[in-house]
Amino acid sequence: MSTKESICTAGDVPEGEIRGYDLSDGTRVAVYKVDGELYATADLCTHGQSSLSEEGTLDGKIVECAWHYGAFDVTTGAPCAMPCTVPIRIYPITVSDDKVYVEF
Ligand code: FES
Repeated sequence: MSTKESICTAGDVPEGEIRGYDLSDGTRVAVYKVDGELYATADLCTHGQSSLSEEGTLDGKIVECAWHYGAFDVTTGAPCAMPCTVPIRIYPITVSDDKVYVEF
């Protein structure tokens, strides 16, 4: 069974930026705003232990990891630059009454 948890308000993540939030189970997620839409992925790169919210760079819907320049599509989790080959987990996001909910 999945849990929905409120992590921030819609305005907390500016367009084109990344913010990191901790879920109640200890998982850290990276939240992105791309063309006005919010997306969430696991915070840790699947290649190493780099935090995408702290060290990643968002260019459109692609987040680039600072460690070895691997990259993911934040809308699908698909890896799109080597050395990343394993998809990153994505988390469904909903916004209600300005609150942002992540499902995990
Ligand atoms: S840790 Fe992210 S590309 Fe290596």
